[in-house]
Amino acid sequence: MTSIDPITRDLWQVIAATDELPVGIVETTLLLDQPIAMTRDRNGEPVVWRRSDEQPGDEIDPETILDRLPVTTGYGFTWTSLGSPPAQLFPVPEYAESDRVNMSCGSIGIHVSAPRAVENFLDMGHFPYVHTDILGAEPHTEVKEYDVEVSQERDEVLATKCKFFQPRAALSATDGMEVEYVYRVPHPFCSVLYKSSPEAPERRDVIAIFLQPMTEERCRAHLLQSMIDSTSTITELRRFQQTIFGQDKPILENQYPKRLPLDPRAETPIRADKSAIAYRRWLSQKGITYGVIPVAG
Ligand SMILES: [Fe+2]
Repeated sequence: MTSIDPITRDLWQVIAATDELPVGIVETTLLLDQPIAMTRDRNGEPVVWRRSDEQPGDEIDPETILDRLPVTTGYGFTWTSLGSPPAQLFPVPEYAESDRVNMSCGSIGIHVSAPRAVENFLDMGHFPYVHTDILGAEPHTEVKEYDVEVSQERDEVLATKCKFFQPRAALSATDGMEVEYVYRVPHPFCSVLYKSSPEAPERRDVIAIFLQPMTEERCRAHLLQSMIDSTSTITELRRFQQTIFGQDKPILENQYPKRLPLDPRAETPIRADKSAIAYRRWLSQKGITYGVIPVAG
């Protein structure tokens, strides 16, 4: 059994879209190599525990579960922890804005480590090649200079002023546009992206990826969209995001090694660009060893 570093153990970890958890029926998953069982009680509150012999689909009275793992809900998802989690999840204040359309866009298993999936989410260089004619297109392949910092106060990686030409930046886009991106990495296995909203250019659509580390080389991606879009249906918005993520999945699963090397020299500087380097360094400084290959020595 792999050992879990104490930082990872004490984090909140996403495990499910809360709406999708059945009431009084067992669902199972894997978190940090630990088999987990979960359900919702009559009030709709998630209940999570270390799985013993429960099978998915079993009926269960949640009142009988006494030995529970910590639970919180946020951004439409259920989060638990194998250790002592902080009082609060990282903030995504936009989620509470009343005119946004918030939705989960599915929970997708990927045969790669959670940090690899975060790094891919931060990488704009793949847009024209992987998301051709949607998030990028030739000849607009250049990743222009942008700013990266690690906010000490908020303990997160922040990349700003990222600009990229996109043929179809969002479902609500009618034309190609130069889109401005801001990326936050407020949690070792989660990233939140803000991009210019075609419908309200002064505001930003929010797309977040919350990775559930199942093992060191496998994760589940839980996707959140918090959009400014007064015309599309939720089904259409979901499908748009799922199409994009469907393009990322095979690319991610071809990455080798599946754990993320934290040594910035381990891979070519083209792949490991500025935000990736900042992310790797931040994980190193935190002492994260789960799902990564730590810097030797
Ligand atoms: Fe992608």
